[in-house]
Amino acid sequence: MLKTPLIIVNLKTYEKGFGNLGLALCKDMESVAQESGVCIAAAVNTVDIFAYSQATNIPIMAQHIDPINFGAHTGHSLPEAVLNAGAVGTLINHAERQIDEEKISATISRSRDSNLTTILCTADIDKTISGAKLGPDMIAIEPPELIGGDISVSTANPEIISETVSKVSEISNNIKILCGAGVKTRDDVSKAFELGVDGILLASGVVLSDNPRKILHELVLGIV
Ligand code: G3P
Repeated sequence: MLKTPLIIVNLKTYEKGFGNLGLALCKDMESVAQESGVCIAAAVNTVDIFAYSQATNIPIMAQHIDPINFGAHTGHSLPEAVLNAGAVGTLINHAERQIDEEKISATISRSRDSNLTTILCTADIDKTISGAKLGPDMIAIEPPELIGGDISVSTANPEIISETVSKVSEISNNIKILCGAGVKTRDDVSKAFELGVDGILLASGVVLSDNPRKILHELVLGIV
């Protein structure tokens, strides 16, 4: 189960983010989650969902699903299959896996049918507003130009976080807000929480680190 405050580590397709190394990373997340009491989830490659969800007790998520139904859809990711493999939810429309609004809507609806928690990624305020109206469980605001960089969204563009928090609350009080892009330190996390987020979505700061466990320890201390 995903709980807030929440940290989601997106393993993307990094070399250290799949197979045995990805599992070791999830084990680090598990121990920091246990020690800190903070919910730490991993968004993983579809083929790793089953193994990671069997071997750890952190929430495992898909990075993408396809809004298809049972039938002849070779090569697609079926929401029910992702759930059955052990995922609790899915990212939707990540900056590196964008889909149009019609597909976003269909994916949210199919996720609901299959009991998958939806985290809709948005790049700007306009997309956040239109996305919030589609009723995802969470919205993760991530300015694409800051993704993978060294300056966090909470430092480079705090306004986009506070505006996301306020605009989404005008549409619904049930949508949790995450932010991401360039988040790497305790300070980056605490600034984001001060701006009103419920969680953080990050990748390179943890996955590419030589000591992910140490970084995770620092990140959870930023949660205020
Ligand atoms: O999904 C998380 C993401 O796109 C942010 O990546 O490397 O800037 O933490 P990163």
